[in-house]
Amino acid sequence: MEDSMKNNEQHNNCPKKDEKNIWMTATIILLTLLLVFFIFIIWLLIKFRKEKAKFKRDNEDLRLSLSAENYVSNKELIKMNKYSDYTVTISHEEHHEELTVTDDGKQVKLIKINPGPEATKWPCALGSKQLARNYTWNVEVGEKGSWALGVTRNEETVKEKKYTPNSKGLDWVLSLSKGKTLEASSGEIMDASQRPRKIRVYLDFKKSMLYFTDIETRSHLHKCNVDTTKPLYPVFSPGSSDKGPLIIIPND
Ligand SMILES: *[C@@H]1O[C@H](CO)[C@@H](O)[C@H](O)[C@H]1NC(C)=O
Repeated sequence: MEDSMKNNEQHNNCPKKDEKNIWMTATIILLTLLLVFFIFIIWLLIKFRKEKAKFKRDNEDLRLSLSAENYVSNKELIKMNKYSDYTVTISHEEHHEELTVTDDGKQVKLIKINPGPEATKWPCALGSKQLARNYTWNVEVGEKGSWALGVTRNEETVKEKKYTPNSKGLDWVLSLSKGKTLEASSGEIMDASQRPRKIRVYLDFKKSMLYFTDIETRSHLHKCNVDTTKPLYPVFSPGSSDKGPLIIIPND
């Protein structure tokens, strides 16, 4: 009788131990699943927040581009930035004698103001490299009363120091004169009331297009087709009305 009871107890012991193991395994699995679930929820939350921020940014971009038709979208900006390596400089050799260029090639200005009819209205300097691919460069014109910027195929006349930046088919420039008249050598200015202080010039070499953008208001000023079949150079003129420099500046 006693023996059989002992046996029974022993028999009972075995399933109890198994049960304990099963419970432990189940608990571990459950905890692991819970952990994975929590990590998943956290990941989802982070992702959601990122998506929300991106959505907000895109929305803002869209809103601005709809409210102002000349607004440069993020997409366009990213494309332009890709081709900006801050290496466009102003040539120390190829410029008018009335101008001076800094050692780093980033600034050009008039040496002295020559009044009278003999003064060259648009003394110019060439960029130091030929443009044979997409390029972006930024120029600060500040509060200057006159300036001209863009690209030219007319490097011969710059070398001969008798350049005027408006020969049709040879120049694609944006200029300001008398402190108020914004003009383009080919076509319309998108918003002629603007008085830009920082300008971005973007050459899409493949599409033979040149774009001028007001950096501060982030709006297009002018765009035109350029002839990329012959050598093209950046061109800079600080005008002849003041001694303020034109400065090549990096991206913000
Ligand atoms: C220049 O930009 C255009 C896009 O507008 C692109 O198709 C082309 O591949 C770019 N060229 C280079 C050399 O990256």
